[in-house]
Amino acid sequence: MPDPQLVLAERVGDALVAAFGPEFTGTDPVIRPSQFADYQANVALPLAKRLRRPPRDVAAALVEHLDVADVCDEVEVSGPGFVNFRLSEGWIAGQAQGLLGDDRLGVPVAAKPQVIPVDYSAPNIAKEMHVGHLRTTVVGDALARTLEFRGHQVIRQNHIGDWGTMFGMLIEHLLDVGEESAEAGLLKSDPNAFYQAARNRFASDEEFAERSRRRVVALQSGDEATLELWQELVDLSKVYFNKVYAKLGVTLTDADLAGESMYNKWLSEVCDELEAKGIAVMSEGALCVFLDGFTGREGKPVPLIIRKSDGGYGYATTDLAAIRYRVRDLHADRIVYVIGTPQALHLKMVYETAHKAGWLPDDVRPVHVNIGNVLGTDGKILRTRAGSSIRLMELLDEAVARAREVVAETRPDLDEGTRAKIAEDVGIGAIKYADLSTAHDSEYTFSFDRMLALNGNTGPYLQYAAARIRSIFRKGGGAPSEATEPIVLGEPAERALALTLLGFGDAVRQVDELLEPHRLCAYLYELASAFTTFYESCPVLKAPDDATRDSRLALSALTLGVLVQGLALLGVRAPEEM
Ligand code: ARG
Repeated sequence: MPDPQLVLAERVGDALVAAFGPEFTGTDPVIRPSQFADYQANVALPLAKRLRRPPRDVAAALVEHLDVADVCDEVEVSGPGFVNFRLSEGWIAGQAQGLLGDDRLGVPVAAKPQVIPVDYSAPNIAKEMHVGHLRTTVVGDALARTLEFRGHQVIRQNHIGDWGTMFGMLIEHLLDVGEESAEAGLLKSDPNAFYQAARNRFASDEEFAERSRRRVVALQSGDEATLELWQELVDLSKVYFNKVYAKLGVTLTDADLAGESMYNKWLSEVCDELEAKGIAVMSEGALCVFLDGFTGREGKPVPLIIRKSDGGYGYATTDLAAIRYRVRDLHADRIVYVIGTPQALHLKMVYETAHKAGWLPDDVRPVHVNIGNVLGTDGKILRTRAGSSIRLMELLDEAVARAREVVAETRPDLDEGTRAKIAEDVGIGAIKYADLSTAHDSEYTFSFDRMLALNGNTGPYLQYAAARIRSIFRKGGGAPSEATEPIVLGEPAERALALTLLGFGDAVRQVDELLEPHRLCAYLYELASAFTTFYESCPVLKAPDDATRDSRLALSALTLGVLVQGLALLGVRAPEEM
């Protein structure tokens, strides 16, 4: 257990019981990082009220019963009753040393591994993925990777939009242009162009529109030839999605597709059951669920419409069938929805309806990881200058092209091919990291200059820190895996770096519990900064003696290990050199 906060919590917990009695078992010792020491325990203040004793007395009694001689070299009561801890160099070094031989780098496996469906990405057939889809894809993928690393069973659910009335016109257009035509090929590279062409014809050609409407009926009634054409559209779109996923380096595959159409077979059942249980009622021809507390303007109840008056089903019914499936068939313990903020109300109503129906038991927790907007420099949703939606592939290509300029400047010594490979990692890494390092629910302004900067909390800064450590090893001969000599902490920068290294496990645990990847980014940035300070003040290869050199190499190797593993959990590649 290298996490100092956990170790101190345990020791203070024991001292509380020893000092005040067994009824204090399980009291939160309130351990926090401290400005004045390494950590402080703040428990004396709330406890003072309960014990009716001055907080400083409580703190003193606590310290008297505290057994931390092996961990700290200084414990003192300060201020109104804080207990300050200064960890000993020997303990920090020993813990860091332990991490060198730990392939989990101090990240504990979850005490209770869960089954966790993660609903993310969810682009729509025959439509361009927009920056909102980019962000749910990147954040969802980082969460999936991190939860898996913690030992949970993650089930990726790519809830693609593959059903709906627009398929009538899409199928007719596909038939008219020919499945093998260049126009049909657009679905694989520029889906909006195909979609627009179909729409334009639908709007201007009555005969086409009429055919399209008949096609919707055929599709919904399960006509085989129509379903084959629908499948053709889905397959062409999958090519496009997979191109984007490959370029981004996300883990989604065809096996993770669980689109809206998958739930068709259950929709009428879902409605019938809700109606039979009295949860859904007919209102103005539609089947609706009215929930307490969901009211709109003038206190009018807002319905969750599960069957429209024309008999059609919508988004809500699909999501209800999905939640039922995820609990009943996938045996979910926690369900993660990585979906845009505007869907918050919709999801709340879905959860509550499912709960009432008995499909979502109390011990299964649905969580909305709500994704904020990505804005252009004008403060509006990011679009092209002409006002149309941005083609994602072009955006990614531009990031790589700009990264290539950066690499050409920093590494003119490398050959063209190597530089191109690095630029790919840096450009894509920069975009992904920008999405991940901002709290997922806040908006942010998309800026190539900022995300590609070599300084600050950016992907390239972290990649550069890792590459720099690799270059130390290249120049010093040895392999990082062989740098396992005893860690000895002399300089303050060495101590600070080692202490930061001990925090990796806690950072990853927080992402698991709070589903906030930006916490891992903040940790990795802190680590890279601690390394920079260390590197500037403590020569590694030119250390004063062999023991110091070996210790510093070991610290460097550990830092590299944590940076690379941390970036891997985020889905960001760390190039060998930069
Ligand atoms: N396809 C939808 C969109 O592009 C997102 C679906 C999100 N997932 C879900 N289970 N509702 O806006």
